[in-house]
Amino acid sequence: MQDTQPKSIYLKDYQPPHFVIEETHLRFDLFEEYSQVDSRLVMRRNHQQHAGYTGPLVLVGQQLELLSIKVDGELLTADEYQVEDDSLTINTVADDFILEISTRIEPQNNTALEGLYKSGGMFCTQCEAEGFRRITYYLDRPDVMSIFTTEVIADASKYPILLSNGNAVQRETFASGRHSVTWHDPHKKPCYLFALVAGSLLVKEDTFKTMSGRTVDLQIFVEPQNIDKTDYAMDALKRSMKWDEEKYGREYDLDIFMIVAVDDFNMGAMENKGLNIFNSSCVLANPQTATDSAYQRIEAIVAHEYFHNWSGNRVTCRDWFQLSLKEGFTVYRDAQFTADMNSATVKRIEDAALMRTVQFAEDAGPMAHPVQPDSFIEISNFYTVTIYEKGCEVVGMINKLLGDEGFRKGSDLYFDRHDGQAVTINEFVSAMEDANNLSLTQFKRWYKSAGTPIVDVVSQYDDVAKTYTLNFKQSCAEPFLIPIELGLLGESGQDLELVMDENTSSKGDSFNGGIFQLTEKEQTLVFTGIEKEPVPSLLRDFSAPIKLNYDYSRDQLLFLLQYDSDGFNCWDAGQKLALDVIYEVMSQQQANLPLMVDPRLLTAYGSLLQRDDLDHAMLAKMLILPSISYIAETQEEIDIHAINQARTHVQTILADALAADLEILYKRLNITQGYLPEPGQMAQRGLKNAALSYLLKATSGDYKALAVNQFENNDNMTDSMAALASLVNSNHSLEARSALDSFYQQWKAEPLVVNQWLAVQAGSAEYGHVENIQKLLSHEAFDIKNPNKVRSVIGTFAGQSLVNFHAEDGSGYQLLADNIISLNTLNPQIASRLVAPLSKWRRYVDQQGQQMKQQLQRIMAQPALSKDVYEVVSKSLSL
Ligand code: BES
Ligand code: ZN
Repeated sequence: MQDTQPKSIYLKDYQPPHFVIEETHLRFDLFEEYSQVDSRLVMRRNHQQHAGYTGPLVLVGQQLELLSIKVDGELLTADEYQVEDDSLTINTVADDFILEISTRIEPQNNTALEGLYKSGGMFCTQCEAEGFRRITYYLDRPDVMSIFTTEVIADASKYPILLSNGNAVQRETFASGRHSVTWHDPHKKPCYLFALVAGSLLVKEDTFKTMSGRTVDLQIFVEPQNIDKTDYAMDALKRSMKWDEEKYGREYDLDIFMIVAVDDFNMGAMENKGLNIFNSSCVLANPQTATDSAYQRIEAIVAHEYFHNWSGNRVTCRDWFQLSLKEGFTVYRDAQFTADMNSATVKRIEDAALMRTVQFAEDAGPMAHPVQPDSFIEISNFYTVTIYEKGCEVVGMINKLLGDEGFRKGSDLYFDRHDGQAVTINEFVSAMEDANNLSLTQFKRWYKSAGTPIVDVVSQYDDVAKTYTLNFKQSCAEPFLIPIELGLLGESGQDLELVMDENTSSKGDSFNGGIFQLTEKEQTLVFTGIEKEPVPSLLRDFSAPIKLNYDYSRDQLLFLLQYDSDGFNCWDAGQKLALDVIYEVMSQQQANLPLMVDPRLLTAYGSLLQRDDLDHAMLAKMLILPSISYIAETQEEIDIHAINQARTHVQTILADALAADLEILYKRLNITQGYLPEPGQMAQRGLKNAALSYLLKATSGDYKALAVNQFENNDNMTDSMAALASLVNSNHSLEARSALDSFYQQWKAEPLVVNQWLAVQAGSAEYGHVENIQKLLSHEAFDIKNPNKVRSVIGTFAGQSLVNFHAEDGSGYQLLADNIISLNTLNPQIASRLVAPLSKWRRYVDQQGQQMKQQLQRIMAQPALSKDVYEVVSKSLSL
C-alpha cells in the first residue's frame, strides 16, 4: 500500500498559469553515465490572466538532480528556493526575468520510457503527457507555449545524427571528438511536443511540394539494418500531406518533416513538432517482414501523427481534460483518410466493432469516464478507447448533423480562430455552431457523460391506413441528441421513399436525408403510403455510438443480409443472425440438449460465397463470426468457456458445411502475383486467408496440407503468418510446432517478426496455455523492458487467448498479476495498461470473478505502487 494515497486532479480546479515562458533555450550534453540539461527560460508574469499576482514561481520536475539555479545571471542560494519531490519553488521573482537551471539525469537507467531515455544505442524522448518534467524543471502543462531553441552535444562517432524540433541552424565539431547541432523551432509549442534524438542512423529522403508551392524535405531515420523498410511509410506520409490539403485545406508549416523509428516505445507514435517519433512496429515494413495488417496500421498511424500538426500542434489543448480535442478529432481525420484510401464500409465496420467490444466494455466498467473527464489521478491512464474512439464518434456525429460542407466550414473556423492557442473542447463545438448558425447545446451531453445510451425501438404496421410506425425510447433520463440513420426495405429489398405523416409523428422536421434526430426521451415516426410491412434498417453506418434494440426475426435478418443497401447494416445483419444462433446453442448447452445450428445460418453464409456484388474485403469481414469478446460484452454475466464452446461449435458446423466452396474460393484466390501493399491485393489475401483458417477448422476433409504448402511457398509475410496462425489455431500441433521452429530459425534476427511469432503463440487458444506463456517469457527472444515484447506475449495472452487467460484454476490471472507487479517498478504505464483485463471482474461468473478480484487485491497490497497502477486497481476494487 501507498504511504500517502495519490490525489485526484479536477477539471473544475483549472487555473491559467501564473507565468509565461516566452523563449526556451535548452542545451543537452549527452554522456553514457549521465546527461546534463541546461535550460535558459525567458519568463514573465502572466498579468493578462492573473493581474496583480506577486506570488512565487513553482516549476515541476521529477527524478532530477538539481545542479544550479540562476535568476537574471545571479546564482540562487539555498534559502531562495525549495526543492520538493515533484517541484521547485522560487520565492521571489520580478515581472520579467531570465531563469537558468542545470540538472543531471540518467537516460540510460530510464526504463519508464518517459522523458529522455535510451533505446538500443540511441537517445530519444517521449514527453506527452507529462514526461518533460523528467528532463528539467519547467511549467509542464499544455497551455504554456514557448519558442524552443535546442543544442544537442554528443560523441560524434557514436551519435553522428543529432535531431530536435524545427530547423537545424548551427553545427559545430569539437577537438574532444564531440559535436553539436542547434535546432530552432519557429512555432510556439507546449513542452509535451518537444523531442530530441541522438544516434547512429541512416535516413531515407524524399520531398513534398505543398499546395502553395513550397518544397518540404521528408526524412525517415532508422537504424542501418532497417533502411529497406522505409518505403511504405514515406508513401503514406506523402499521401497524408496531400489529403490534408485537399480535404481540410491544411498545409504543412516547416521546411522539414522528420520521422524516427525506435524499438522501445510505450505507445504507437508521437506527433512532436516536425520530429515525429515512432514505435518501429508502426513505421517499418517490407513485404518479407510485415503483414498486410502491419501495412494498414502504418498507413493509419503515419497519417494520424501527421494530421496532429494542425489538430493538436497548431491548435493544442488547454489542459489534459481536453485530450479528446486533439485525439478524438485526429482519429476522426485518420479514419476519413483510411476510408478514402481503402474500403470505406470495411473501415466503418472495424471501427464500430472496436466501439462495441472494447469501448462499450470500458464504459460499463470501473474506469468508465466521459469523453471530457472531470477528474483523473494519472493522465497516462486516460489515453483510452473512450477518449480516442468515442471521441472520434462524437466528431463524426457532428459531421453527420452538419453535413460535409457545414463540417468543413466549422473546421476552417476552428483552425483559423484558434491558431497558436491552447483551447478546450467547448471551443471546437462553438466553432462548429458559429460556422453553421445553429446550437449544439443538447449535443454537448455526449462529451460530459459516461456510459452507452440504449435506444429501444418498436414498430407497428397498419394494413388499412398503410402506415408504418417506429417508436423510439432512449434509456437516459436526460435525453441525448442521437442521430439515427435509417431506411425501410420494401418487398423486393429496395429502399422505400420515406414520407412522414406530419400530424402523428412527434417531430416532423427532425427527419432529414435519412437521418432522424432523436432528441426526446420518447419519439414516434409515422411513415405513410407503405403498401406492405417493410423491414427497418436502423442505425445505418453506425450513426451513433449506442446500443439499439429492435426485435428482428431471423428471416428479417436474412432479408437485410441479402438486400440492405447500407454496407454496415448488411454486415451487422449477418452478425446479429450469427449471434442469435450462438445464443441458442449456449442455451442448449446449458439445458444439456443436443446442439443444433439453425440451417438458415449455413445457407446464408453459403450464399455469401456466391454473391458477386460484395468486394473481397467486405466478404472476408462478413464470413467472420462475432468475436468472443463481442459476445461477452452482450452478456449480463460472462462465462467465457460457455461462449467459446458455443461459438466453436457453430464455427465447426459452418466450416464443414462450406468446406467445398471455401476450398474452391481459396484456390481461385491463391495466385502469386508479386506482392504489393495495395487495397485490392490486400483484400484478396485477406479473403483467401479467411477461407484457409475456416478450412482448418473443418472436421471433414484434410486441409492442413494447404496451410503447410502456403507456409512453405510464399513471397510475403502476410501469407506466411496466416498459414502459421491457421496451424497454431487448429488441432494440428505437430505441423504447428515444426512451422513455429523453422519460422524462428529463419527470422530470429528480425525483432518485429519475432514479436509476431511470440504473439501468434500467446494468442492461441490451443498453444496459449499458461505453461506455454511461461516458456515464452523465459525465451531468449523475450525482454520485459521492451513494451512491444510485453504486448506480444502478455497483452496478447490476456486479450486474445481468452479461454486460457480465464483458465478454471486461476493460473492465467496469476500470471498476469505477477507480471503487472514486475512492471510496476520498471514501466508503470505498461503495467497499468495490463490491468484492464482483470478490472472487469464483476461481470464474470462467480468463481472466476472472485479469482480475478483476489489478484487485484494482491497487486493492491504491493509496496510502492505507481500512481498509474494504483488508479486502475483501486478503482476496480472500489464500489
Ligand atoms: N499523442 C499520441 C501518442 C501518445 C499518447 C504519447 C500518450 C504519449 C502518451 C499519438 O498521437 C497517438 O494517439 N498515437 C496512437 C496511435 C493513433 C493511430 C491512434 C498510439 O500511439 O497508439
Ligand atoms: Zn494522437
